[in-house]
Amino acid sequence: MQVTKYLFYSWLNCLDIDYIYRLKKRMKVRGKFILIAVVLFVAVYGVYQVWTSIIWVLVLLIPLFLMGIFDIFQKKHAIRRNYPLIGRLRYVLESIRPEIMQYFVETNTEGRPINRIFRSLIYQRSKKVNDTTPFGTQMNVYRSGYEWMDHSMYAKNNVKDIKHSEYPKIKVGGKDCLKPYQSSLLNISAMSFGSLSKNAVMAMNKGAKIGDFAQNTGEGGLSPYHLKHKGDLIWQIGTGYFGCRNHNGTFNTELFKENALKPQVKMIEIKISQGAKPGHGGILPAVKNTEEIAKIRGIKPNTDVLSPPAHSAFSNPIEFMQFIKELRDLSGGKPIGFKLCIGQKQEFIDVCKAMIKTNILPDFITIDGGEGGTGAAPVEFSNSMGMPLREGLVFVHDTLKGFDLRKNIKLIAAGKIITGFHMVRVLALGADICYSARAMMMATGCIQALVCNTNTCPVGVATQNKSLMKGLDVDDKGNRVANFQEETVHSFLELVAAAGLENPSEISRKHINRRIGMHKVAKYSEIYPEFITGCLLTSKTRPLNYQKYFN
Ligand SMILES: Cc1cc2nc3c(=O)[nH]c(=O)nc-3n(C[C@H](O)[C@H](O)[C@H](O)COP(=O)(O)O)c2cc1C
Repeated sequence: MQVTKYLFYSWLNCLDIDYIYRLKKRMKVRGKFILIAVVLFVAVYGVYQVWTSIIWVLVLLIPLFLMGIFDIFQKKHAIRRNYPLIGRLRYVLESIRPEIMQYFVETNTEGRPINRIFRSLIYQRSKKVNDTTPFGTQMNVYRSGYEWMDHSMYAKNNVKDIKHSEYPKIKVGGKDCLKPYQSSLLNISAMSFGSLSKNAVMAMNKGAKIGDFAQNTGEGGLSPYHLKHKGDLIWQIGTGYFGCRNHNGTFNTELFKENALKPQVKMIEIKISQGAKPGHGGILPAVKNTEEIAKIRGIKPNTDVLSPPAHSAFSNPIEFMQFIKELRDLSGGKPIGFKLCIGQKQEFIDVCKAMIKTNILPDFITIDGGEGGTGAAPVEFSNSMGMPLREGLVFVHDTLKGFDLRKNIKLIAAGKIITGFHMVRVLALGADICYSARAMMMATGCIQALVCNTNTCPVGVATQNKSLMKGLDVDDKGNRVANFQEETVHSFLELVAAAGLENPSEISRKHINRRIGMHKVAKYSEIYPEFITGCLLTSKTRPLNYQKYFN
């Protein structure tokens, strides 16, 4: 009797809303999931008695129920264990976060690595559509770091009708070079076949051919796709010596010679380091290491390819210079240079000393900034390793000038060079020539999806997935690459003319201003005072902050 009474009152109590509320509060989401599932199945069963078609709802309910049960019992993801089914939403939202940010949230000046203003400009210039802007600048001209160029009251009017074929060229090739190269002011920076799809490589090379500029192969070797459209090439050799390696990964002179002598190869660049991962060596994830790429590189397919962080062909500055001479001789006298992101300054100064000691000079040096891009890199290396371009470029230019070597060596700069002003800025700091990588990718169709390291690039630029790369039309994108290069150099020449200068070589540090405080502005020439030619050659003339490198 007592028990029946207790059960009756308990049942009555259950009807009490407050009690139900408290019970609901105590119940874990897992419990609620089971409860809701049971209620739904019972409801379906109830409705089934009068309307049999409701049974089809189970096609949806049963898989969802099983997914929820799986979530409860799996042990890897706490969020899914505690919040079965709805916990999965987190992964869905995370996966579409970049798109939501890019399409709906980011402002025109905020997007990273390349903001919307610049992305739009690249697309407009590559399609040769209207690239002007209405209503004034969207930049905050009073923030620290804002930079601008001085124009002249006596601006030149010599650019309006200039033809692409009349754009200035820069001769690369020092005293020992037998085959100097007349380089365009803006070329395609190193990006390998492997990190890029074959269609992207071909489109870029086609663009280079149309626009008479050069494409750097990247460290992944020389592929048939670099050669097909006959655009000029700068062949890059990294620490993995892809395209000129022995089976044990060391340098092979015969294979080098075979490729270096190809007429399309105009210059050869030894890669010491790149800004996005200096001191690390290249990374090709296994998913992108196809049979074809492995064959071109002389490696095993479907494995992660990690190039060594340093070269095995030389281990000190003197050997480095001798290696440059060896490559120059093997290539029949083509320009040989090296690419680096500046790290320890002493090491670069030691290389300059070795140049003087051996009397062997590179024909060019490429300086990549820490802000540089990559297909795949460890986050710490991308974020916190390597000198940014402006400081690195100033250091290299000044040091070479200090050793009186600058006149014989051309400098190429890479690191977010997207507009005519970016070109002016690096020329003011000391560069002769510019490289662009990511802007060229965008001209090829890249939408900055930020998935180059996953083989899922949705526009077929940075993937080896055949069906994705089909979307990239080589002819169309080849034209766009050529257009982007032409329009950007044209805008650069317009700036040079607006400054009242006849020739890009007249640009100097005094032409660029940087805001360094709310009420303070300094010229590049004040922030980075130029060295006197040869000042590092004697202890008397050496700037104080350089003395330590000579002890
Ligand atoms: C997809 C991709 C692949 C790259 N591969 C190489 C490479 O093989 N060798 C190299 O020296 N630099 C490589 N880089 C770096 C670029 O050549 C360039 O130095 C750097 O991205 C800075 O230029 P940017 O700011 O115009 O992109 C790569 C960059 C990207 C985005």
